[in-house]
Amino acid sequence: MPVRVAVLGFGVVGQAVVRRIVSVPGPLELTHIFNRRIASKRVDWVPAPVVWTESFDEVLAAEPDIVIEVIGGRTPAGDYLRRAIAAGCHVVTANKQLMAYEGPELLAMAARHDVRVGYEASVAGGIPVLCAIREGLSGDDLLEVSGILNGTSNFVLTRMAEAGLPFDDVTREARERGYAEADPSDDVDGHDARAKLCILVRDALGLDVRPADVHTESIRPIRPIDFTYAADLGCVIKQVARAVRHGDGVLAWVRTALVPATSPLAHVTGGQNIVILRGASGNETVLGGFGAGGGPTAVAVVSDALSIAAGSPLTSPGGRALRPAQVVTTARGAFYLRFIVRDRPGVLAGITSVLASHGVNVDAVLQAPGLPKDALPFVVTLEDTEAESVAAALDQIARLDFHVVPPLALPMVG
Ligand SMILES: NC(=O)c1ccc[n+]([C@@H]2O[C@H](COP(=O)([O-])OP(=O)(O)OC[C@H]3O[C@@H](n4cnc5c(N)ncnc54)[C@H](OP(=O)(O)O)[C@@H]3O)[C@@H](O)[C@H]2O)c1
Repeated sequence: MPVRVAVLGFGVVGQAVVRRIVSVPGPLELTHIFNRRIASKRVDWVPAPVVWTESFDEVLAAEPDIVIEVIGGRTPAGDYLRRAIAAGCHVVTANKQLMAYEGPELLAMAARHDVRVGYEASVAGGIPVLCAIREGLSGDDLLEVSGILNGTSNFVLTRMAEAGLPFDDVTREARERGYAEADPSDDVDGHDARAKLCILVRDALGLDVRPADVHTESIRPIRPIDFTYAADLGCVIKQVARAVRHGDGVLAWVRTALVPATSPLAHVTGGQNIVILRGASGNETVLGGFGAGGGPTAVAVVSDALSIAAGSPLTSPGGRALRPAQVVTTARGAFYLRFIVRDRPGVLAGITSVLASHGVNVDAVLQAPGLPKDALPFVVTLEDTEAESVAAALDQIARLDFHVVPPLALPMVG
């Protein structure tokens, strides 16, 4: 029996999904394409029997087996998915914001209606990370998930490091080359990675973490000089999403971090993504590939639809026993502090005396030669320290009168 599929949204991902479904022999039979202003969307490569519509009622009235949502945003996409579930349809979505904010409720509703929700494409695009958690790693007790989950930020940081250009110039280039949207805030400010981290934490660790609980920092304050100092320390700078079991709760954040040049995280360049899962028994499993783009994302969407067609329950170990978790945002660690100051005698002594008064030990001081004295960038690295002590010291240091820009603190991970 063919499995009848309706696709909601005929944009970048929707078109790639439809291309896969109509070009690959298999059980999936495309019946409807739904989009607003549908007349402007028609293309001649979609087989004639497929119905083009801007009426969701018409889609539901046809009783599809699977509704694929690739519209994006929480509204009206969430309403369409709830109506599809209530009507007894399985659903597949690439929508990270919807799954991050409303995933547990949608999954609970789907369980009540005895239908399945596929959302592989909502995390790391074409990398089958949720499938790996559900199938290949279900025999382990996963303790940690970390990764580079946003290709736009990774592209911007990679180009800044390569070309020594400031954030604004590289972001403009990223827009021109199709790596960034007109407004890249969601990506560069960490909200996109945060949404994906919440989904990963639920599936991998079985903990219900909501986006608002995850400490999230922007990559905007990073300057080209930071890459120079990071290289001196044997590190690169990356937007890292990380969640680690912490007692009964979880430590979870999205931060710009210094990563050792030898770490798998350091080798992910341009628009690529990586996910590292650490288990109690299996240790580290590293998954990498294209985290976005129509083709890779469509593969994840269509694979979910095929799994549903084959009868897979698509239930992750975490999803079976989800429990609310206390989210911790800071922990012990080493830090990189970058200051840009109007140079004068006593600046370094002022900073180190505040650090000492908070019990924070300095590891090293780095200052490249020949830099301008009216905006002198230098770095202080800290030994393993309680993050709260660092934050309190920095708060006090930021009030000293020699700063040209606010001090920057980056964790050094790995
Ligand atoms: N692009 C990627 O690389 C990627 C990767 C992973 C996940 N995703 C996720 O996939 C989803 C789709 O992304 P996309 O890049 O394909 O977006 P897109 O190119 O903007 O496509 C969205 C489509 O949905 C239509 N649409 C928007 N609002 C609608 C509404 N209220 N009613 C009916 N149709 C509506 C749009 O129509 P108009 O043309 O009229 O606006 C457009 O055709 C999002 O959840 C995104 O986060 C995308």
